[in-house]
Amino acid sequence: MKTYWCAMPSELVIRRSRRVSELALLTLVLFGAVICITSCGSSKQESVSQAPVSAEKESDAQSGAVAVTNEARTQANDIFSSRCAVCHGPDGLGNGPGAANLNPKPRNFHDKVWQKAVTDEEIEKAILYGGSAVGKSPLMVPNPDLQSQPAVVAALREHVRQLGAK
Ligand code: HEC
Repeated sequence: MKTYWCAMPSELVIRRSRRVSELALLTLVLFGAVICITSCGSSKQESVSQAPVSAEKESDAQSGAVAVTNEARTQANDIFSSRCAVCHGPDGLGNGPGAANLNPKPRNFHDKVWQKAVTDEEIEKAILYGGSAVGKSPLMVPNPDLQSQPAVVAALREHVRQLGAK
């Protein structure tokens, strides 16, 4: 009888602590589910907003994820002349009038070693978010207004690649 009464409380403690860990597990699972739902939700939204872009994709011979339309190419050429050429030079040699006082110098897009090493994603990231976003100099300025124009960003990247192919 005595041993029975002694055993009861400790068994209760074990049961209680089991219940506590079950609760913790449940909370974790629920938390995970909430995170999953939120991230799944946002990625769904993304794919919906990108849908019209990928619909144009068929005619795109380039390997990029976004279609480069002729309209985007025209816009990109204008942007290159009006924004990028100041530093990178009209032909992308890194010798624009604004380059003189810059250190490091703007990238020379004709540099074959660089062209080989850099990915399309890095080029587009540098254009959108600036040099510091790809571990380069913040003197390479961001262009946040182009975030809503992925086709123009892709066309700028294409322009940079074409300069490098010359
Ligand atoms: C104020 C001068 C300036 C302007 C304007 C500018 N850049 Fe740059 N850019 C730089 C500098 C400086 C670097 C070199 C950064 C480094 O090597 O650390 C650079 C680097 C780059 C790179 C290479 C990034 C890498 O990963 O190596 C790309 C691509 C680039 N610029 C594209 C552009 C495009 C496209 C535009 C126009 C939309 C533009 N830049 C406008 C100064 C500029």
